[in-house]
Amino acid sequence: MAPDYALLARQLEALLDSRDWLTNSAQTCAFLMQELPELNWAGFYLQREPEMLCLGPFQGKPACHPIPFTRGVCGAAARSRLTQRIDDVHAVADHIACDAASRAELVIPIVVEDRLWGVLDLDSPVAGRFSEQDQAGIEALVAVFVERSNLALPA
Ligand code: SME
Repeated sequence: MAPDYALLARQLEALLDSRDWLTNSAQTCAFLMQELPELNWAGFYLQREPEMLCLGPFQGKPACHPIPFTRGVCGAAARSRLTQRIDDVHAVADHIACDAASRAELVIPIVVEDRLWGVLDLDSPVAGRFSEQDQAGIEALVAVFVERSNLALPA
């Protein structure tokens, strides 16, 4: 059964009581890792220089950095500005394996004033972990993060 995403959104709103994107992004990935079952990595990549994703706050094993827009599932999300929901990363030739345990991946682009601010990346060791319902629920959680945070250019 999918988590109660409406409840999680209200909890995240209460948690994000700062306007600081750094504090809020750290809190958001810790919250997701705690509340969503079957994740092995949750974190943000930020566009701090053109067409490159820089590793930001995350929970999980040390990860790949940097990731150009041309590579991987994160790069595809950044280029297309569309959520990438992958049932089995082994079937994606372009996938960048940071942790061999990862099987499913969900990458949600974060666009602010028509600029790709960054992406939220979730990995799971369970193939097919993310349903359409999970995608919609987690996109709504990202919308809470965006609404609660000052996403001016990262300092
Ligand atoms: N698998 C990602 C790289 C980031 S890690 O999963 C944390 C990708 O293919 O872009």
